[in-house]
Amino acid sequence: MARKKLIAANWKMYKNPEQSKQFFTDFLPMVQGHDRDEIVVCPPYVNLHAALEAAKGSQVAIGAQDVYWKEEGAFTGEISSTMLVAVGCTHVIIGHSERRQYFGETDDSVNLKLKAALEHGLTPIVCVGEVLEEREAGLTEDVLRRQCVRAFNALSARKAAKLVIAYEPVWAIGTGKTATPQMASDAHVIIRAEAAKAFGDDFAAALRILYGGSVKPDNAHALMAEDEIDGALVGGASLDPKSFTAIVKY
Ligand code: 13P
Repeated sequence: MARKKLIAANWKMYKNPEQSKQFFTDFLPMVQGHDRDEIVVCPPYVNLHAALEAAKGSQVAIGAQDVYWKEEGAFTGEISSTMLVAVGCTHVIIGHSERRQYFGETDDSVNLKLKAALEHGLTPIVCVGEVLEEREAGLTEDVLRRQCVRAFNALSARKAAKLVIAYEPVWAIGTGKTATPQMASDAHVIIRAEAAKAFGDDFAAALRILYGGSVKPDNAHALMAEDEIDGALVGGASLDPKSFTAIVKY
């Protein structure tokens, strides 16, 4: 089954509203008419409005980088799915390794966030991936299986229909070390098998699994050529409109 690739930008904690607007002024003309792949840009919360305004009328969707699972309440500093939907977001990154590493994200909070995002019609991009010590200890498969099993807990294929997974080996993020297309492919096979166990073979066959970790214009083509790789989640190289365009057009 042909899966449309999704190329997503994770801007992390970069750019202000003015710089976000400028990005789209430069980026949109370069990708005009490009519909082979789906394009999503995930700026920091405070730039969502500027990005949504700037991307209006284009094929580029806007997503957030995190979400809290409650609707509303006394949760200082948090943002809910309802709020993201209300401003026009369609996508949300959940469980990024930086959130797991620095902000106490756990497999269980990922599950809660995933369920909330799906319930509100957002397309969640759930990040999984092993750290270097885990890879070196031969634990990659165990880690990916555990992260998937816990993320998918208490979800059905119907509810999870919009799910997207991003395989981001932590040792490849921001390091310039990319997983080889074969390494990424092998990890994607493990993830797809977990999705098949949880949601069935048809679901798994349609599930998009992105690769993230030092995706650059010069390695995007080789990665995207793999059958198992259904797109990219791009950090550093997504900040510059030219390099992100080159990746989108791999
Ligand atoms: P880099 O592309 O900067 O390695 O970041 C990858 C990433 O974490 C995307 O979410």
